Amino acid sequence: MKKCIVYYSKTGHTKQLVDRFDGFDVFVIKAESDDPNNDHPVLTSIPDINTYEHVIFGCPVHGFQMAKIMRTYMIGLKDLNHKVIDIFVTHYFRFATLGGNQTLKQMKRIIKARGGHVRYQTSINRKSKKSNGAMIELVRKYSK
Ligand SMILES: Cc1cc2nc3c(=O)[nH]c(=O)nc-3n(C[C@H](O)[C@H](O)[C@H](O)COP(=O)(O)O)c2cc1C
Repeated sequence: MKKCIVYYSKTGHTKQLVDRFDGFDVFVIKAESDDPNNDHPVLTSIPDINTYEHVIFGCPVHGFQMAKIMRTYMIGLKDLNHKVIDIFVTHYFRFATLGGNQTLKQMKRIIKARGGHVRYQTSINRKSKKSNGAMIELVRKYSK
């Protein structure tokens, strides 16, 4: 199965999790400006994931929502039907209710609207003492 990870990372934590995976093609989303408050970022990398059967999307929580650069990329996607799709977010606040859950919901909405179905979803609280174990488990599950 052809598999890839598409992610955005502003300060490197989401990237550190992506770096734990083996055997995936990896695409990073970038924009002309990294300003998290820009509602309409101009993307400079727009990976084509059409030929991938398994896709993982990862991004940080910004202001209780998906980072806008990732949102802009995902909104631009056309058809996500017939793919195995897993998602994760990384966040800082102690409770997933402070952005993590909402961001996962937002990602799922975008994916569903494009005919996709999410298999696994995880929010990683990188401040938590349990975050390393959670990341090991995530990589194990998502790699199957
Ligand atoms: C502009 C901005 C807004 C953020 N808003 C939230 C938030 O609402 N909830 C939260 O838990 N963490 C928030 N964070 C923390 C990031 O989600 C967290 O540090 C994440 O792991 C960063 O990922 P990255 O290093 O890949 O960019 C915010 C960080 C930034 C820079």
